[in-house]
Amino acid sequence: AGSVLLDRLRRPLRDLRISLTDRCNFRCTYCMPREVFGPGYEYLHRRDLLDFEEITRLVGIFSALGTRKIRLTGGEPLMRRNVPELVSQLRRRAPEVELALTTNGSLLARFAGDLHAAGLHRVSVSLDALDDATFMKMNDADVPVSRVVEGIDAAVAAGFSPVKINSVIRRGVNEHAIEQLADRFSGPDHIVRFIEYMDVGNSNGWRMQDVVPASEIAARLEMDGSLSPLPPREIGEVARRFRTARGGEIGIIASVTQPFCKNCNRARLSSDGRLYTCLFGSHGTDLRGPLRAGASDHEIAEIIRATWELRGDRYSELRTAAGPKPRKIEMSAIGG
Ligand code: GTP
Ligand code: 5AD
Ligand code: SF4
Ligand code: SF4
Repeated sequence: AGSVLLDRLRRPLRDLRISLTDRCNFRCTYCMPREVFGPGYEYLHRRDLLDFEEITRLVGIFSALGTRKIRLTGGEPLMRRNVPELVSQLRRRAPEVELALTTNGSLLARFAGDLHAAGLHRVSVSLDALDDATFMKMNDADVPVSRVVEGIDAAVAAGFSPVKINSVIRRGVNEHAIEQLADRFSGPDHIVRFIEYMDVGNSNGWRMQDVVPASEIAARLEMDGSLSPLPPREIGEVARRFRTARGGEIGIIASVTQPFCKNCNRARLSSDGRLYTCLFGSHGTDLRGPLRAGASDHEIAEIIRATWELRGDRYSELRTAAGPKPRKIEMSAIGG
């Protein structure tokens, strides 16, 4: 019990994203460009990663502090061995917490059934285009669109309906995918969400002119029929939701042109056990050190509490403000 944990802007800690690995089999130009994440790049060593017991223990502590949603991310989380086993441990430790996974879909056909059986509730798949040429321009990987679509189909068949499909839109690269994705995934089993391209990390060379603003994404979709806004389902929801003319649902995540920091209740845990209070954070609070040094649950909870109570992050609201720009954490280290 005790009082609700609030940060300096009175936001609660409701949602925790846990990165299971900093590795990925894709090289999305907006996240892990090959020039930076090449053969010489130093990934974390196995001993640096939190093991399943450590992750499960932390989830128990977070859930006692009020966290209600856990999302497993990466890198690509399914590159880690035995994720279904982790899912069942988490379900046992925190049965009241909602468990979701964000994946690039390339390994999903293999794991969807086991993940569902282990008690995972929801799956989100990244997919930026439906034609191989554009898909490869975005993801720079040797994986065809059909493999990701098979992953999505397997997830639906396993019982994860609706599956959310996340598409980052880049000016001049995959704008034409907007209508195609909305059209292809218009039924009740899918919700496509279009995401404004963001300046995450330090290596994607982000420029404002590469962003396709939410207003323009919506206008393109309106040409195919009306969009009616749907009310937010919960406080702090990142996507603005719309009902399409064909009865489906789509979402637009306008983190650049309409930031949603005011209600941001998300914390992120890197795979080496650092707690970040913003996607654009520049340093995390080490939880692995205390864990491995034998700290009690109460001591770890106090570190989390103190970190959250100091939190004043609202990067997306300040993005264009002048001032020094500290080095940011890479998105591949803390997931989406
Ligand atoms: P559910 O509501 O649980 O389905 O998940 P979600 O809406 O939080 O979606 P998800 O975690 O899949 O996020 C989708 C995308 O939104 C991410 O890949 C990011 O691009 C963006 N996003 C999510 N959370 C944040 C955030 O806290 N800040 C910013 N700036 N962008 C975010
Ligand atoms: N801008 C917006 N979203 C991004 N993602 C990764 N990099 C970016 C970026 N630069 C999101 C993608 C992907 C998820 C894992 O992270 O939506 O689906
Ligand atoms: Fe991998 Fe996802 Fe980053 Fe693409 S966005 S490189 S799939 S972690
Ligand atoms: Fe939350 Fe930081 Fe994203 Fe704002 S920029 S919504 S504070 S994660």
